[in-house]
Amino acid sequence: MKYSLQDSSITLAEELPDQDLFPLIAEHTTDDILPMQNESSEGYMPLRAWLQSEWQQYKGIEVDVNQILLTTGNEQGMELLTRVYVDQGDTVLVENPTSPSILELLRMRGATIIPIDADAQGVLLHALEEFINTTSPKFLFVTPNFTNPTGVIWSLERRAQVLDLCRRRHVLIVEDDTYGDLYFDEAMDPVSFSTRYPSLFRLDGGQKVGGQVLYLGSFNKTVAPELRTGWVIGKRKLIELMCAEMPLGDCQSSALNQRILYQLLVSTTFDWRNHIALVRREYNIRLELMKKLLNQPVWRGARYDLPLGGMFIWIQLPEGLRSEALLKCSIPKGVDFCLGALCCVDKGDGFDRIRLNFTQPRRGELIQGMQLISEAVSEFTARS
Ligand SMILES: Cc1ncc(COP(=O)(O)O)c(C=O)c1O
Repeated sequence: MKYSLQDSSITLAEELPDQDLFPLIAEHTTDDILPMQNESSEGYMPLRAWLQSEWQQYKGIEVDVNQILLTTGNEQGMELLTRVYVDQGDTVLVENPTSPSILELLRMRGATIIPIDADAQGVLLHALEEFINTTSPKFLFVTPNFTNPTGVIWSLERRAQVLDLCRRRHVLIVEDDTYGDLYFDEAMDPVSFSTRYPSLFRLDGGQKVGGQVLYLGSFNKTVAPELRTGWVIGKRKLIELMCAEMPLGDCQSSALNQRILYQLLVSTTFDWRNHIALVRREYNIRLELMKKLLNQPVWRGARYDLPLGGMFIWIQLPEGLRSEALLKCSIPKGVDFCLGALCCVDKGDGFDRIRLNFTQPRRGELIQGMQLISEAVSEFTARS
């Protein structure tokens, strides 16, 4: 199901931030980064130490620096994990729906992917328990903060229940926190957010108890997408195994990028917390705009919940309208979006759903793009 958007200029299909909101890195860094030997496969030590202290300060978690592995982003974190953990035919449990790129990666690895459906609180416990009982899963993959595509943020209770179940049944949880810093409630600072919505990793006790959760984090959506840097935090033994896989792929993620990113983060002219606050405010404005655009009569009959953060709105189309037909009609008009089916484990699902990204397109593009999609919707609804 690939469509090319040759003539169009607006896409609401991506998983990207707005590049224009990001710092001009050269303004905050120096060019005297010395020629260097390759870093260790774990990555540039000062950046790992920075993450360690950041986690303690803002996320209330103590980790050993040796539990941190730098990657090119969460996708590479998953890639390394699957190389260590997943052989052809192995079962993995996946919060459903989820990110198309993560599904693609697991499919390429030959995994048997079992969907665990979710409601507004998180994955459904009874479904999780059933599949833990009937399969021997290698791990459970979840995105508790602003799941791609639904935007759901799990309740504290569900987080604790899922962790408890997986602990009792010795199932590793892979917690992908790609969108965790992109919450829109301005009353919350990072400390109050991570207290109200603690990561599963934190609930698991981090370094002190821990071991049940592997945490994937990324700067790619928040600070410097072009430097492609993320990190993995987990049990030392697992980190060592993943690290050993690095040379089989790209040897290591870019040491130069890691150094530049570190310079940016510690620069006196760049405050990364203020920067993320600015990004959050702008995305919230775009979400409000989307709310108005979706209030137009043509969208009557569509169902969706507005997310409290993240990058997407997950929409169930008005009755009888199929997402693939809508996309075919939208592309010649000059706009595209992500088909719901691409986010679902079972490809037959999601045919009546679409995912709209509201962070990459600028405000004017959202207005124009939604106008075009609305025209396409009305062509179908006029016919029926
Ligand atoms: C849930 C999820 N995980 C991972 C990724 C990839 O993250 P990164 O850009 O850090 O590789 C995405 C989207 O880009 C995503 O939605």
